[in-house]
Amino acid sequence: MFKKSQIETFKSLKTPFYFYDMDLLDKTIEQVKLHGQSKGYHIHFAIKANYNFRILEKMLEAGFGIDCVSGPEIERSIEAGFSPDQIAFAGVGKTDEEIQIGLDHDIFSFNCESLQELEVLNDLASQSEKVAKVALRLNPNVSAKTHKYITTGLHENKFGIHPDRFSDLFELLPKLAAIKLTGIHFHIGSQVTDLESYRQLCERVNEFQNIFEGKGYNLQHINLGGGLGINYKKPEEEAMPNFKSFFELFDNYLDVKPDQEVHFELGRSIVGQCGSLISKVLFIKEGVSTHFAVIDAGMTELIRPALYQAEHSINILTSDKEPITYDVVGPICESSDTFRRGISLPEVQRGDLLAIRSAGAYGEVMSSGFNLRKQVKAYYSDELVEKAVTD
Ligand code: LLP
Repeated sequence: MFKKSQIETFKSLKTPFYFYDMDLLDKTIEQVKLHGQSKGYHIHFAIKANYNFRILEKMLEAGFGIDCVSGPEIERSIEAGFSPDQIAFAGVGKTDEEIQIGLDHDIFSFNCESLQELEVLNDLASQSEKVAKVALRLNPNVSAKTHKYITTGLHENKFGIHPDRFSDLFELLPKLAAIKLTGIHFHIGSQVTDLESYRQLCERVNEFQNIFEGKGYNLQHINLGGGLGINYKKPEEEAMPNFKSFFELFDNYLDVKPDQEVHFELGRSIVGQCGSLISKVLFIKEGVSTHFAVIDAGMTELIRPALYQAEHSINILTSDKEPITYDVVGPICESSDTFRRGISLPEVQRGDLLAIRSAGAYGEVMSSGFNLRKQVKAYYSDELVEKAVTD
């Protein structure tokens, strides 16, 4: 929960804004180090989840690498201090310019998703007189049992190379002199809460590895992607996933060859729970069967409820009155601009502050300028007092 002094400071800040609990981020990172890095696993932070420099600083200190999906993400990672040999570059539609950025920096791995991409990468690499290191993203046809918009590992999804293309792939690879195959890559989806999906992934990875070995390829690394989900129903620390059982599962089920590296690309599970969107109640409106609490944050600041029907927990920070039932809605001209329906919250009035929790991943970075809304500010628990004074 927020400290009283923090809530007092929030009252002096222009809402809405993002607030990051840096102590919780530290604690989360400690868990990843304790259960993942200690096993020799390489962790890449999925910068797409949150690209704030203050957050990236923590990932750098932790010794994590970065997982990118665009040229600008590669550039930002380097600006934040990451070494190019810690950068994996995934994405089903990399432009020539983006590929060139990766080549110019000699990144750790291009995670390639199609045969045509391999050919283009090979051409561009040979023009630059470079050899690009490649991990092939393979489609394992494993269900992540998550929202269909964030499921990526099924054959019907656009991601990864389908096993039906393997024979063409094995014909093509020896012709690509400017490519060095270093690994295989997977990512089954995001907000995965059933670890059974990862066990199935391990089975598929083991099978694929044998196929590649049979063709004479000794893979230096396996990249299992990210996707580990958090508990959006629980606050803060309790929202954190069980990293111990996550990493132990791979320890138990994945066949790792001697000297082979195992990589992960975690985004949400590291940064999700430490962020909140702080907003103010603008109006209370009586609906037919509900009270609308109209707040000053909208889907422009946090699109997850509108896009994935995600339910973020909401805490009222400045009222402890008896609870009543609300629909918490934003100001945007879309009915999907609704954070929660039929939620029981302490009675609020105009001016009360509330926190929309676990918004640290895919929150601020997915904000938009729809309705000409301005980008909101971010504050960090370890510098909040100083910021509040200067703002
Ligand atoms: N690796 C690859 C190749 C990915 O595409 C992603 C996420 C990750 C790693 C990191 O996944 P994570 O550990 O954060 O689940 N906007 C959606 C999530 C989209 C995830 C896209 N890819 C949401 O708000 O739920």
